[in-house]
Amino acid sequence: MTIRAVVRGVGHYLPERVVENAEFEKTLDTTDEWIRTRTGIERRHFAAEGETTSQLAIKAAQAALADAGLTPDDIDAIVVATSTPDFTFPSVATMVQAGLGMTSGFAYDVQAVCAGFVFALTNANGMILSGQANRVLVIGAETFSRIMDWTDRGTCVLFGDGAGALVVEGVDAAGTPQDRGILAVDLHSDGRFRDLLYVDGGVSSNGVAGHLRMQGNAVFKHAVQKLAETAHAALEKAGLGPEDVTWIVPHQANLRIITGTAGRMGVPMERVIVTVQDHGNTSAASIPLALSVGKARGQLKQGDLVVTEAIGGGLAWGSVVLRW
Ligand code: UT7
Repeated sequence: MTIRAVVRGVGHYLPERVVENAEFEKTLDTTDEWIRTRTGIERRHFAAEGETTSQLAIKAAQAALADAGLTPDDIDAIVVATSTPDFTFPSVATMVQAGLGMTSGFAYDVQAVCAGFVFALTNANGMILSGQANRVLVIGAETFSRIMDWTDRGTCVLFGDGAGALVVEGVDAAGTPQDRGILAVDLHSDGRFRDLLYVDGGVSSNGVAGHLRMQGNAVFKHAVQKLAETAHAALEKAGLGPEDVTWIVPHQANLRIITGTAGRMGVPMERVIVTVQDHGNTSAASIPLALSVGKARGQLKQGDLVVTEAIGGGLAWGSVVLRW
């Protein structure tokens, strides 16, 4: 017998404002055609003026709680993955805690940029397995529109805002690969690659929020190789292989990265959940958003084997294998 962290509920929230690729043609030397063919992105959502990351996170959390049939009082801990918090502190997670009306438990943020949700989910799994918490709300929430340089066509057309949330719960299990819940995790980072993807501002450097800077082509090459490797490693730890995968639910940065990674894993695109066309790259929010949309579309069903994988600034990357 063992304990597994099982997904009990999922939900998401997207800001109302939708921006189509063609909008960027008005201000930048770019085209809908370039963005679509090089990235797969067709549109993205941007938060309204004054709409914050914690507000998106609260709405996603409420949707996940409703899906789980639970109230905020049933939750022991909240972990929010974000690189775009409302404030330097307090954490977005404690703001979500207050916003949900929750006066017990504990809450904190995790920062691993676009890989943040995979790190946060791993963290929640560890807390559940160690008995520190039994029900954890794991949220990815971002407002990357706030750190865009709107004159840099190589980055500002790529990102969007949004939030997704899971309720994970400790459940007794047999300890086999057939169990529901998180079966294996695999995390990595390599700080030598800092300059490939970073924000040129921060509290202890220049005191400003800064703008995202990226060497897209170099990140692309790392992404396809490292994502396939980490997904394979996590599957192996779970005692499973690519042939067992029902769905890859990848970080949604670029359709070509998603296709390239699936190809390297030997998993056909019919078994990949893709939302990048509608959301752009929402960083730590992209995987829980894709899980929530995948469930709403009727793609994800109980018992399906799901592989999530993500990479982002750091570089930091990793994978979680779970049975839905
Ligand atoms: O989530 C975190 C991880 N991030 C990622 O995974 C992003 C990884 N990188 C990418 O997705 C791709 O590298 C990009 C979409 C950012 C760029 O695609 P690419 O095929 O790697 O293009 P590139 O950077 O090699 O640029 C090709 C050309 C360049 O022009 P020249 O130098 O060949 O004349 C760029 O200036 O495309 C140009 N370009 C654009 N053209 C029109 C770059 N951005 C644009 C644009 N519109 N928006």
